[in-house]
Amino acid sequence: MPDPHDGSHELTDIGATLGRVLFYDKQLSVNATVSCASCHRQEVAFSDTDRASVGVQGTTGRHSMRLVNIRYGEDQRFFWDRRATSLEHQSTEPIQDHIEMGFSGQPGSPSLQDLIVRLQKIPYYNELFTAAYGDPEITQERMQGALSQFIRSIISFDAPYDTGRQQVADDRMPFPNFTEQENLGKQLFLQAAVFDANGVRIGGGAGCGSCHRAPVFDIDPASKNNGVMGSLNGTGPDVTNTRSPSLRDVVQADGSANGPFMHNALSTDLLTVLQHYNTMGMQRRNTNIDPRLRPNGLPQRLVLTESENEAIIAFLKTLAGQQLYTDEKWSDPFP
Ligand code: HEC
Ligand code: HEC
Repeated sequence: MPDPHDGSHELTDIGATLGRVLFYDKQLSVNATVSCASCHRQEVAFSDTDRASVGVQGTTGRHSMRLVNIRYGEDQRFFWDRRATSLEHQSTEPIQDHIEMGFSGQPGSPSLQDLIVRLQKIPYYNELFTAAYGDPEITQERMQGALSQFIRSIISFDAPYDTGRQQVADDRMPFPNFTEQENLGKQLFLQAAVFDANGVRIGGGAGCGSCHRAPVFDIDPASKNNGVMGSLNGTGPDVTNTRSPSLRDVVQADGSANGPFMHNALSTDLLTVLQHYNTMGMQRRNTNIDPRLRPNGLPQRLVLTESENEAIIAFLKTLAGQQLYTDEKWSDPFP
């Protein structure tokens, strides 16, 4: 798999190991109750089954995101609204978030510098920072480097999709290891739709693959909002969300959801997602809707049949890997 991000992000075993310890360490939150892994759990592809995740001071305003194949995604802006412009910058934001981990430095709250002082007193960090960086000094930059290395190390490419893809020259060809239904789902997912003048689909596929792109199933960097406008806390429409985690491991192989879908935890049922794309509303208040979902300026009508919906869902299950959920190198290192 080519790494679109050159050699600028070095990934070393020791760097990722330090990142893993930081990721699972509750000492990174003010009251030592929350770690990154509290909201990004390995058994659900590093997302959360809660609609809103619990931080040190209340709950998050958006649903947690899966952390899978981030290294291979073309778009390297992070969060649902892409407000973080690098993974390094992103990685210490939760620590400094008032709600999530609490080292915000706001009046009455400790700052990141206070966290560094705390970590300096912990012998295993002395050892790990020395191993990773040559001396025991702890800085925000070093923490960012290690956390982002760990996140980049989390990959999933051992799905039935990968087995099939290796057996054919082109992803449009039927995969020998797929059922007829899975191959139909693949075709519907990957192919663009053909619409009539009223925005009703008269041929082709469902056009999912133009935004969720094979083989990483990462989001097109140019994607705009997909029409999911509701917010978790019910505060008016939110049209800023244009990023999606890779659709790999959106569900497990048996179809169980790795937490609710979309930034506002719309549903844990893929059929609800398909219904959303199937019959889009007018989106009158949506100033940021992606034009691909408005053929001829009208809301798309995919008119997928029940069995076509089921085929797309069967295909999404073939994107679930195995190692991701069990590999020790991504698991909790604390006893
Ligand atoms: C209290 C829950 C919580 C904690 C703790 C937490 N996160 Fe998150 N994480 C979230 C939520 C919610 C989002 C989506 C937020 C948004 O888009 O506004 C997110 C998004 C992310 C993303 C963006 C993924 C993408 O594809 O854009 C990364 C990376 C990430 N978190 C890493 C971390 C790291 C590293 C830590 C620990 C230092 C951490 N998180 C701690 C809840 C949490
Ligand atoms: C115009 C680009 C675009 C197209 C076309 C598109 N999507 Fe999406 N998709 C997105 C964006 C953006 C999000 C994140 C939206 C949010 O949470 O607000 C998303 C989210 C999702 C999610 C939830 C991901 C998660 O981690 O919660 C699923 C599942 C999904 N899309 C499936 C599909 C399917 C199936 C199709 C085809 C019928 C499709 N998408 C077509 C842009 C698109």
